Amino acid sequence: MQTQHVPVMLEEVLKFLRPEPGGHYIDGTLGGGGHTKALLERSAPDGKVLGIDADIQALARVKERLAESVSSGQLVLAHGNFAELARIVDEAGFVSIQGILLDLGFSSHQMDNPERGFAFSADGPLDMRLDQSEGMSAANLVNSASEQELANIIWRYGEEKRSRQIARRIVHERAKGAITRTAQLAKLAAAGVPFKSGAIHPATKTFQALRIAVNHELERLEAVLPQMLEVLSARGEMGGKDGGRMVIISFHSLEDRLVKEFMRREAKDCICPPQVPVCVCGHKARLRLLTPKPMIPTSEEVSANPRARSAKLRAAEIVLK
Ligand SMILES: C[S@@+](CC[C@H](N)C(=O)[O-])C[C@H]1O[C@@H](n2cnc3c(N)ncnc32)[C@H](O)[C@@H]1O
Repeated sequence: MQTQHVPVMLEEVLKFLRPEPGGHYIDGTLGGGGHTKALLERSAPDGKVLGIDADIQALARVKERLAESVSSGQLVLAHGNFAELARIVDEAGFVSIQGILLDLGFSSHQMDNPERGFAFSADGPLDMRLDQSEGMSAANLVNSASEQELANIIWRYGEEKRSRQIARRIVHERAKGAITRTAQLAKLAAAGVPFKSGAIHPATKTFQALRIAVNHELERLEAVLPQMLEVLSARGEMGGKDGGRMVIISFHSLEDRLVKEFMRREAKDCICPPQVPVCVCGHKARLRLLTPKPMIPTSEEVSANPRARSAKLRAAEIVLK
């Protein structure tokens, strides 16, 4: 059976980004192009979307799937990391941007292809890179990091209580020969934990941790947030009548915390510590929160699209000066 690739929280994304004819939008995580397709439809006939992805395979698939929009120039595709958003936008000559979407993490295409190494349920090479043209694979990391480094990664990014035990097992195993397959890692991470039906697989947190480390996910998210603010603010400076909007969907608490803290800080006029009686920071709010609390998918959406299960959506709007 073919997996359905359904865009997560599509209605909410459209509600906040309010695509309209002639509008310019950025999809920083193009993936299968589901959100982008809807943005193109709602901004037709002359709206534009800049679709960015670190994964060349994702871009190639969307180039075929949305060939008409690519050839009409409505959809511009860019290979790169959203951590370099400002440069990519500049190089694409994209201006007056009304909305930016990030739907973080990996796509079902990536998860469903054992060759990419994201899945513990099907054996494949232990890769996990979103961008296979650069960086260190999960196998490189697992075979070269010290036991302490591995334990820290699994603890910090996986919030896995058995982190030390798993790191010890990895180091013990690799002394016999390199760990190169997802099945090997899944077995090591799950060893000694009885699998209960209905519970998450015991290797889930270890896989999440390594994926985050391999792709520098938190650093890249931290890098893109201020750039989203700058790119959207440029529109106000060019005389846009309302502030551009950002929508970010995250899938684990480490990502969501970064997004929440960034949005809250940028929505405040003063960020002096509470003990400072009179403001000395001079900080001015640049964002207005559209979701004081994160939105989560409905139970219907989760049953239709299990990938949506842990999604949290936050949105904010640029405050025009
Ligand atoms: C959850 S999927 C997006 C799905 C998409 N919204 C759709 O409707 O099909 C996330 C995509 O973002 C890409 N991605 C994740 N982090 C990235 C980053 N730092 N820079 C560029 N692309 C990234 C992944 O390669 C993946 O294709």
